[in-house]
Amino acid sequence: MKILFIGDIVGQPGRQALQQQLSQLKRQHRADLTIVNGENAAHGKGITKKIYHQILEWGADIVTLGNHAWDKREIFDFIDETETLVRPANFPEGTPGKGMQFVNVGKTKVAVINAQGRTFMNPIDDPFTVVDGLMEQARKQADIIFVDFHAEATSEKQAMGWYLDGRASAVVGTHTHIQTSDNRILPNRTAYITDVGMTGPYNSILGVDKDAVIRKFKTGLPVKFDVPETDQTVLSGVVVDVDSKTGQANRIDRILVNDDHMNFE
Ligand SMILES: [Fe+2]
Ligand SMILES: [Fe+2]
Repeated sequence: MKILFIGDIVGQPGRQALQQQLSQLKRQHRADLTIVNGENAAHGKGITKKIYHQILEWGADIVTLGNHAWDKREIFDFIDETETLVRPANFPEGTPGKGMQFVNVGKTKVAVINAQGRTFMNPIDDPFTVVDGLMEQARKQADIIFVDFHAEATSEKQAMGWYLDGRASAVVGTHTHIQTSDNRILPNRTAYITDVGMTGPYNSILGVDKDAVIRKFKTGLPVKFDVPETDQTVLSGVVVDVDSKTGQANRIDRILVNDDHMNFE
């Protein structure tokens, strides 16, 4: 089973890149299941119902979220009606939505879990304990367990990877928006990468207008962060090859497609 995962879609440029490239990427990598992180899909902040449905139309099977999950208030109107949207599982008890969803791919059942880190992020429940509980639940029902761990600190993401080695089929990091080159199969056959990277404007700082971010660093004054309008994009993802009988990962490969015209020979 090949699982294609696309990192944080940021605003219109990210949506455009996804719309233009997803079907070809799915063919090229023979993806059986496609997961997209959509926490920044609506102008960098959250997701709307319309955009969520567009992402599905363009070829995603399931959409994960992160710390920006609630930025567009309309999510509260539809998150509980859907079975293909996953928000961080370790948000406090009683939070709308679910932190784990199941999807059937032929005869194989895949559990998709979203969890969020706590280091340099808002204080929420312990992701390790929460994921333990979900693993137990998932193992009874699913053949494959895929975890999107949305976290800031590299160490916390590595810790989650090692913690779930042999229990999850894949632990992929999101949130920091820059693809890391440490994709690997851990000893007990869990596929791991610290960060998948983002899908959005290429000439930006983490998807945000670069001049605004520089101004913020230089002055320390409050600055409005916007997603720049541009056709130059980066698309970041991974494709994970998992044995659907054992749930063990065989390979994890990086995908990085950008509009870099400045890389002169
Ligand atoms: Fe993000
Ligand atoms: Fe995030």
